[in-house]
Amino acid sequence: MNRVELDPALRPRSLGEYVGQNRLKEKLSISLQAAKARGEPLDHTLIFGPPGLGKTTLAYVIANELGVGIRVTSGPAIEKPGDLAAILTNSLEDRDVLFIDEIHRLGRLAEEHLYPAMEDFKLDIVLGQGPAARTLELPVPRFTLIGATTRPGLITGPMRSRFGIIEHLEFYGAEELASGLLRVAELLGFRLDPEAALEIGQRSRGTMRIARRWARRVRDYAEVHGDGGVTLEITRAALDHLGIDPLGLDERDLRLLHTIVHHFAGGPVGLDTLATALSEDPDTIEEVQEPFLIQLGLLQRTSRGRVATQGAYQHLGLPVPSLDQV
Ligand SMILES: Nc1ncnc2c1ncn2[C@@H]1O[C@H](COP(=O)(O)OP(=O)(O)OP(=O)(O)O)[C@@H](O)[C@H]1O
Ligand SMILES: [Mg+2]
Repeated sequence: MNRVELDPALRPRSLGEYVGQNRLKEKLSISLQAAKARGEPLDHTLIFGPPGLGKTTLAYVIANELGVGIRVTSGPAIEKPGDLAAILTNSLEDRDVLFIDEIHRLGRLAEEHLYPAMEDFKLDIVLGQGPAARTLELPVPRFTLIGATTRPGLITGPMRSRFGIIEHLEFYGAEELASGLLRVAELLGFRLDPEAALEIGQRSRGTMRIARRWARRVRDYAEVHGDGGVTLEITRAALDHLGIDPLGLDERDLRLLHTIVHHFAGGPVGLDTLATALSEDPDTIEEVQEPFLIQLGLLQRTSRGRVATQGAYQHLGLPVPSLDQV
């Protein structure tokens, strides 16, 4: 749901301040310029990617770059078509952005009412019931729908086809995370050495939200155990103290790898079996946990199931099984 950031003022406000995602930013900046030049709303935009990579932030950046207002809601908050009608007709101005977070959780009926609003900027309201029912066509302002989701697989085909721009966010490299942290440190006015920022970046699971969280913890540690300056030495000590894995894996990631290795002899193991063993939701494993493990080369998705790689054994400090054992 609408997550309240502790430091909203530190959120990037322009594409220039928005770190990384260069491929996406290049494409988007062309669409933004064109829409502005034509005085039209930006095409409806769907942003997907794992939690904490910057979907919500990007929606705000887009509205800001367009110089328009933004209205924020979420899929589960729109239960009835009437909720949608209220938002579209009461609070939007011409070319504004309507941001629907967790858009995959939008109810079926509300979704169907959204289609004509997206396509023709109108709502069909049904008055009365039975044979006497009439449909009233209600105009809505021209707007841009920005939908965000961690679960693109759950977006229906008709919904997806109504978005003109569909983009996914990628995990950040350590340098990109570091540059985001250095900007925050500068704004907050505390000393963060570049090597320290890089170390935090390396241990943050490619995720901006996690990098920021670790930076706050390291800063606390530096104030208690040092003079407040965040050096590489302090950073390493603080992150080790917090039990943060050198690759940034969290407890759930490690548990997943250990389970494949110990309970399923390294795999292959089917997603559903794995999910049952972990008491996790298979979709969450597939869409939130696995992408980063695959990117690190610790996990493989094969047609027969999930397999822990040699790298996973090495990372867990276990002997790598020889090929004839597999
Ligand atoms: N590209 C970026 N540059 C700088 N800071 C960023 C960037 N992306 C995200 N952040 C920061 O990282 C944090 C998380 O971003 P955000 O809330 O937008 O993620 P999200 O993808 O919407 O996550 P969720 O799926 O949990 O809603 C915020 O503090 C935001 O300011
Ligand atoms: Mg968000």
